[in-house]
Amino acid sequence: MDYPVDISLKPDVTGFFDDATNTISYVVKDPNSNSCAIVDSVMDIDYAAGRITYAHADELIRFVEDNGLKLEWLIETHVHADHLSAAPYIQEKLGGKIGIGEHIVTVQNVFGKIFNEGTEFQRDGSQFDALFKDGDTYTVGGMEVFAMHTPGHTPACMVHVMGDAAFVGDTLFMPDGGSARADFPGGDAATLFDSIQKVLTLPDETRLFMCHDYGPNGRDIQWETTVGEEKAHNIHVGGGKTKEEFVQFRTERDATLDMPKLIIPSLQVNMRAGEVPTDDDGVPMLKVPVNGL
Ligand SMILES: [Fe+2]
Repeated sequence: MDYPVDISLKPDVTGFFDDATNTISYVVKDPNSNSCAIVDSVMDIDYAAGRITYAHADELIRFVEDNGLKLEWLIETHVHADHLSAAPYIQEKLGGKIGIGEHIVTVQNVFGKIFNEGTEFQRDGSQFDALFKDGDTYTVGGMEVFAMHTPGHTPACMVHVMGDAAFVGDTLFMPDGGSARADFPGGDAATLFDSIQKVLTLPDETRLFMCHDYGPNGRDIQWETTVGEEKAHNIHVGGGKTKEEFVQFRTERDATLDMPKLIIPSLQVNMRAGEVPTDDDGVPMLKVPVNGL
């Protein structure tokens, strides 16, 4: 298979686990320079108190500074529904461009309606510095990387392939975790299956980095596996499971799941590239659409 970039480079990947949301943020360093990217940062929120803090983001910032790295990109694999992005906070301190998939526009339209946003909420992705199309390439230092459109969990999901490391977002979980839900507005189980197959066409030795891990069956938290491991052992799609089997299982399972605890604040912030919305007087404010989700 042909790839738009050299996928044999081996970037240094450091994962940072966020206990509150079971999210893993990554610093990815070009092996041949001090340039790096951050994938899926987290801003802390105490939703009951309406309080936002930055301990997790500060840890990423400290790591970048302590290692003398130059931050070039803040990548969002998708509009997360379970945690808030800290991209603007980190950008203010370290620079870098915030990038997401071009189908953010669809997500903004869907949730712009649900949150009854006014016309001041732009639905054109302009809150982000870069909108990626399927197959788009960009660089982290001298390392050329590419984005793969992988809808299904959400319409804007992308997997970012940086050398031999792929950041799968919520396309896949660890082999014993399976896959993410496909029942959010704009999600689709059959589409997710096809996207997973696309990721699994990468070489077997490709390192895969998860956005989430919940330590199923009491095991310790893990976030790294390979394409080969997922193909052989993923409990939802591995070992030759068919699309029909997957769709039936995923649909039945999704019907039993509660909404993520932070979906209401997460969507409002993340569809704005991590900026907290403000009311007419410019005061930071979040809404709760009653029976809207
Ligand atoms: Fe997600």
